[in-house]
Amino acid sequence: MYVLGIETSCDECSAAIVEDGRNILSNVIATQIELHRPFDGVVPELASRLHTEWISQVVDAAVKQAGIKKEDIGAIAATARPGLLGSLLVGLNFAKGLASVLDVPFIGIDHIRAHLYAPQIEHPLEYPYLGVLLSGGHTVICRVDSYDSIEVLGTTVDDAIGEAFDKVAKHYGLGYPGGVMIDRLAQKGDPMAFKFSGPKMSSDYHPYDISYSGLKTAVINQLDIFSTGKPATPENIAASFQRVAVGMLIKRVEKALKDTGLKRISAGGGVAANSLVRSSLLAFEKDGYEVSFPSLKLCTDNGAMVAGLGYRYIQDGFRSDFSLSASARVSAFKKS
Ligand code: KG4
Ligand code: ZN
Repeated sequence: MYVLGIETSCDECSAAIVEDGRNILSNVIATQIELHRPFDGVVPELASRLHTEWISQVVDAAVKQAGIKKEDIGAIAATARPGLLGSLLVGLNFAKGLASVLDVPFIGIDHIRAHLYAPQIEHPLEYPYLGVLLSGGHTVICRVDSYDSIEVLGTTVDDAIGEAFDKVAKHYGLGYPGGVMIDRLAQKGDPMAFKFSGPKMSSDYHPYDISYSGLKTAVINQLDIFSTGKPATPENIAASFQRVAVGMLIKRVEKALKDTGLKRISAGGGVAANSLVRSSLLAFEKDGYEVSFPSLKLCTDNGAMVAGLGYRYIQDGFRSDFSLSASARVSAFKKS
């Protein structure tokens, strides 16, 4: 079965055709990055306007690249939540219209679940596993028991990890998107140039929760306090910030693995493309853990993860009603 997946939750306008949930025949991603660059961040009104202009061509290109015809599409999946409301509505309504015309099943997809499902498309990982979702809007450490059954162990209590990267980069004018620029600059910097440290892990109520606002403030406003006398170059700031931001995450992942006894780890979302995140998580392999990442193209927002997850729901008999509306909020996950 060919599933069309549509993703328009933020600044990527993407459509993909995935065959039987595994075989990615096309994954067209029209990024708006250049158009938001002058503003150093995503402008919601501009994002939804561009999605409106692009969606039809992006879907046509995905169908063409897949070498099929629209009539061959067996089901349509589109991101319904969470994200920028105006942007979500463009993809969701397009999907509903096309599903209605083609008379095929339609399913609305949760963006967080799609990121967590992305690695399964390329390298299926046995359930259960520890899911680590790292994006511009969310930081979630969770136990994943199936594509639909996710128990949140910890989340960010303030800034998401990608948001912290983006805000630090914006403050120092390092370029947009911030995470990518910091990753690049950090390769040439000294990670010990500034002695930033993360907050102590709380051993009480939610030990896997994570806070980035203190680190962000230290990097932006308190360079002097944490200086070791090394020059405050963009490279040194980026490397020192990245060391601590990723280190905080890894500590919580380590504790979650120990406490849950899970033996497999899977990461997804834009920040899972970060080189230090990847090498730090892969280091768990030497302790016998199985670690799985999506390829870089499936880390950031894309239609293939939506089509892949959509296929699973459709196969299990799930359908969304055409009355389904978009929502900026995360759907209810179970928090332990
Ligand atoms: O998953 P995503 O494409 O969109 C959301 O759902 O938010 O993630 C975007 C985030 C941005 O904050 C961006 O700066 C960050 O992912 N990002 C990175 C890297 N590539 C993208 N952060 C750190 N290192 C990277 N290489
Ligand atoms: Zn995303």
